[in-house]
Amino acid sequence: MKKKITVIGAGNVGATTALFLAEKRLGDVVVTDIVEGMPQGKGLDMLESGPIHGYCGRIKGTNDYKDIEGSSVVVITAGLPRKPGMSRSDLLAVNKKIVGGVAEQIKTHAPDATVIVVSNPLDIMCWVALQATGFASNRVFGMAGVLDSSRMRAFIADELDVHPADVVTMVLGGHGDSMVPVVSMTSVSGIPLTDLMPKEKIDAIVDRTRKGGGEIVNLLKTGSAFYSPAASAVEMVESILLDSKRVLPCSVYLEGQYGIKGCYIGVPVKIGAGGVEKVYEVKLTGEELKALQASAQAVHADMEELKKIS
Ligand code: APR
Repeated sequence: MKKKITVIGAGNVGATTALFLAEKRLGDVVVTDIVEGMPQGKGLDMLESGPIHGYCGRIKGTNDYKDIEGSSVVVITAGLPRKPGMSRSDLLAVNKKIVGGVAEQIKTHAPDATVIVVSNPLDIMCWVALQATGFASNRVFGMAGVLDSSRMRAFIADELDVHPADVVTMVLGGHGDSMVPVVSMTSVSGIPLTDLMPKEKIDAIVDRTRKGGGEIVNLLKTGSAFYSPAASAVEMVESILLDSKRVLPCSVYLEGQYGIKGCYIGVPVKIGAGGVEKVYEVKLTGEELKALQASAQAVHADMEELKKIS
């Protein structure tokens, strides 16, 4: 029997995620949104491209949470972007309400699902989803590091004129200015990046990676990135459904690893049918570890702020 995958939020990221899932033939896809008619319209449009693309899974758009029953994986992309005049805590409060509400519906209607959070601010929204679902933390984690690493891999491949799939890297830490691109773990098919590029070039790529989301926002002007976030979420869904045990940087709940406790932060993990099956505690340089811990402190500060808001 085909597995069911639900995408909550049928905006740019959600609809693109649904399309990529269908194209990969990973199962039946349900896409939901609060806006009436919109997910139904997008779902039907995707379904009607099936005969040409050759995918056979069902795709259904809905406003009804009953339709998510039996989902193996749920991807949360619902949320509002920051608007002019909105403070960071305003955004935290609004998205806490949205993601918290969505997570409660998942708890009720898809209690066996593994949840991948995409909504921003990512690391803190993972925590909101963890609390609202009450699921074990290996079943609630966030997509950020796959995207940030993919950006860095693309920049390196472009600079060196090599196949992007041969570029390996890990961007750890929080999804934002404090992310930690780990140069010591970056290579092209095992050849250390530091042997292939001068330091200034590497520094420039690290800086561009950190600002990668903003670069797209500045170009689009009316929204944020969605093709690469959707592709990144789908890579994680695939590893769960196929139990392929990919080792990917994901935002997971740490309980002492890297000296970080009680918050979500991006680190390398093994993803399989059991969700997060292993957290890898890799050797980082002193500077990288300090940056990771500082990143966790920023997430902790947001958690404290959120406790005050609620
Ligand atoms: N339940 C379901 N859907 C909701 C809810 C809710 N309570 N609240 C809002 N939505 C929907 C909106 O109606 C909209 O269709 O979430 C969708 C968000 O889509 P976009 O505004 O297009 O945003 P998008 O670019 O898809 O980004 C979604 O992913 O990468 C992150 O930062 C990004 O947090 C943002 C999220």
